Amino acid sequence: MKPSVFVHTWTPDDVLEDLRTKFEVDHHDHINNGGLPASEIHDRVRGKDGFMVLGARVDEELLQAAGESLKIVANCAVGVDDIDIAACTRAGVQVTNTPDVLTDAVADMAIGLMLAVGRRIVEADQYTRAGRFQGPPFGLFWGAEIRGETLGIVGMGRIGQATARRAKGFGLDIVYHNRNRLESAREAELGAAWLSLEDLLARARYVILLTPLTDQTHHLIDARRLSQMRPDGYLINVSRGPVVHERALLEALQAGTIAGAALDVYEFEPKMTDGLAALSNTVLTPHIASANVATRHGMIALAAKNLSAVLAGEAPLTPVNRLDGSG
Ligand code: DGY
Repeated sequence: MKPSVFVHTWTPDDVLEDLRTKFEVDHHDHINNGGLPASEIHDRVRGKDGFMVLGARVDEELLQAAGESLKIVANCAVGVDDIDIAACTRAGVQVTNTPDVLTDAVADMAIGLMLAVGRRIVEADQYTRAGRFQGPPFGLFWGAEIRGETLGIVGMGRIGQATARRAKGFGLDIVYHNRNRLESAREAELGAAWLSLEDLLARARYVILLTPLTDQTHHLIDARRLSQMRPDGYLINVSRGPVVHERALLEALQAGTIAGAALDVYEFEPKMTDGLAALSNTVLTPHIASANVATRHGMIALAAKNLSAVLAGEAPLTPVNRLDGSG
């Protein structure tokens, strides 16, 4: 008998066909048919060997519902904050994610949002669309400099490093904050200097958040941290919404204690704090940093490969947890 899997994500036909040759597949396309309530997800994951998932929480309750047959949760994203990793490890369930395939897309978006908010591109677009461009352009939408300014990257993993490489091309000075310092050779290659978070916030004109959401990074940027930023500084968040205390950010923007913010993610996603959209110095996008065609396909294909490998008794390509008792 073939192993059985529940696939709770949009999945391209070729990937789905391949999975069907190996597994009994129960498929729910959560993009075109909407997400499912937790109770239905629990029912459909019951007794399955594998769960390929996007847009659903994996917690103790789900693991209990799935039962002992479950061997892998193949997450179709790099961020695993929707998954209780410790509970999966205790239950002997392998968790995998999708690093690398989305690094360039997210780094592109980080730079794009920095340029958009600093150079006021969205504001200017709205002005032009509204038919208000009726006179000489010289006085319109003077924005912030890029070349020669300092970019602070908070979270210097793969995406942070890819962002630093791009930023070098724009002539930005790069500083970063990360729990672990990079090796000095890597710092030299990136031209990036480590700073404490406080020093980074005080120094950088642009602060890009690229840190995973953990207990330690929840509300990492709160009212106190925002008050440490430069008054002409911009905050750009392409990591996870709860890394920023969104109400405190709104208040800082309204009070003008920072110059602007560009957000791809929100504390209570898909909701956004009332007031952010009314400000002209915000750029707001709906969690699309990894959304280009090749990357979206790549994420699903990698999750499917992880699913297939683990259910064939092989090592996962991109594991998150280790099941040998070491973490
Ligand atoms: C990720 O991979 O974590 C992205 O946020 C999903 O789009």
